[in-house]
Amino acid sequence: MIPSLPPTPARHALRGRAVTFGANPFMADPAQALVYEADALILIEDGRITQFGAFDALRDTLPPDTPITHWGDGIISAGFVDTHVHYPQLPMIAAYGEQLLEWLERYTFPTEARYADPDYASDVARRFLRELLRAGTTSAAVYCTVHPQSVDAFFTESARLNTRMVAGKVLMDRNAPANLRDTPQRGYDESLALIDRWHQHGRQLYAVTPRFAATSTEEQLDLAGSLLRQREGLFMQTHLSENLAEVEWISHLFPNRASYLDVYAHAGLVGPRSVLGHGVHIDEGTFHTCHAAGCALAHCPTSNLFLGSGAFRLFDALDPRRPVRVGLGTDVGAGTSLSQLQTLNEAYKVAQSTGRRLHPAQAFWLATAGGAHALYLDDRIGTISPGMEADLCVLDPHATPLMAQRAEQCQTIEDLLFVLMMLGDDRSVRATYVAGALVHDRDAPAGQPA
Ligand code: GUN
Ligand code: ZN
Repeated sequence: MIPSLPPTPARHALRGRAVTFGANPFMADPAQALVYEADALILIEDGRITQFGAFDALRDTLPPDTPITHWGDGIISAGFVDTHVHYPQLPMIAAYGEQLLEWLERYTFPTEARYADPDYASDVARRFLRELLRAGTTSAAVYCTVHPQSVDAFFTESARLNTRMVAGKVLMDRNAPANLRDTPQRGYDESLALIDRWHQHGRQLYAVTPRFAATSTEEQLDLAGSLLRQREGLFMQTHLSENLAEVEWISHLFPNRASYLDVYAHAGLVGPRSVLGHGVHIDEGTFHTCHAAGCALAHCPTSNLFLGSGAFRLFDALDPRRPVRVGLGTDVGAGTSLSQLQTLNEAYKVAQSTGRRLHPAQAFWLATAGGAHALYLDDRIGTISPGMEADLCVLDPHATPLMAQRAEQCQTIEDLLFVLMMLGDDRSVRATYVAGALVHDRDAPAGQPA
């Protein structure tokens, strides 16, 4: 049994350093886009932020008896947003040796077969969500498995924690083991039942989830497109152009389509709230189509490095002349960490390898406001501002002796954020709040979410 943290009052305030964004740092000067409050006050009422500003300016406006948690020199940020991750793959993170297609066969499919068991699914869903909160991540776009019970397990736990999550049942009717295949009709019926059970149930949101074009027939992709039209506000998530052997395979499976993206577009799967994982091997035409369609790409650097997939061209995707929405994805279990700080570490190095420099303000924007923008949720999450849902994390730049020593050399908040993204991980997440409630306190004896 995990001891619970004490309940958080409906009205309370946080004090500390705070970072958020007033603009997109890929479109504006990054240092200008970053909003930094050296001594901030954030008032939270009924799960939402109602005031944000300098402590000195706001202290006298607080309702009497509002409890204030002072996080010292902790840096309060919007909670991180992970735009591409597979919860069922948590137990197989760090599987040795293969690239994408062999990795799927050898490790992923056997692991995902276990989710026929609802108790197993509940156990992993619990551990996964707890790990996310320990990493400061409060929202994610999550793949379940082909089993509807894997989706029920995930949303049940997310609803209990009140996290804003996007998730869905994987659709897969070919090129996978028989125990992991559905059929176009069964996938449709099961997805629709899950949509009606979970979509917009509290903070939960549903994503129609064809795994990728290789594991769905054209008929299944068409029905996935039809599902999207059945209810308002649904999401769509899949994989796109991750690995060269995969890209070659798709061109043989769909010889009549102009591009990999066109396979999905033809089925009505590409538009706002569509999230395409990876997009490593795509050309200017595909970037342009993504921009015009309003879909998003999930940049998954730890996964792309781990599977040897290639280098995502982040700055080409974000070209201000036709910017594509981009979020960061950990892509566990091909990704090697659920920490967005570690993911930013690798994103920085991947950008370097393409001759570009990822400014720390751009990096933290991707992990927060940019992820929310990619998911069309930026009116609710991803920034600290009145009206936003109070999903927050508190970062500790002194989490390890080395970080503490390095942080002492920092002259600016940008320097400090850079140290956090290069040296930080879950140890640097001091606390996490979900809809105003404290759900992770690193230093509490229990240390765990309720
Ligand atoms: N392409 C299709 N399925 C997967 C998956 O589970 N992980 C990754 N990284 N790529 C995929
Ligand atoms: Zn993936």
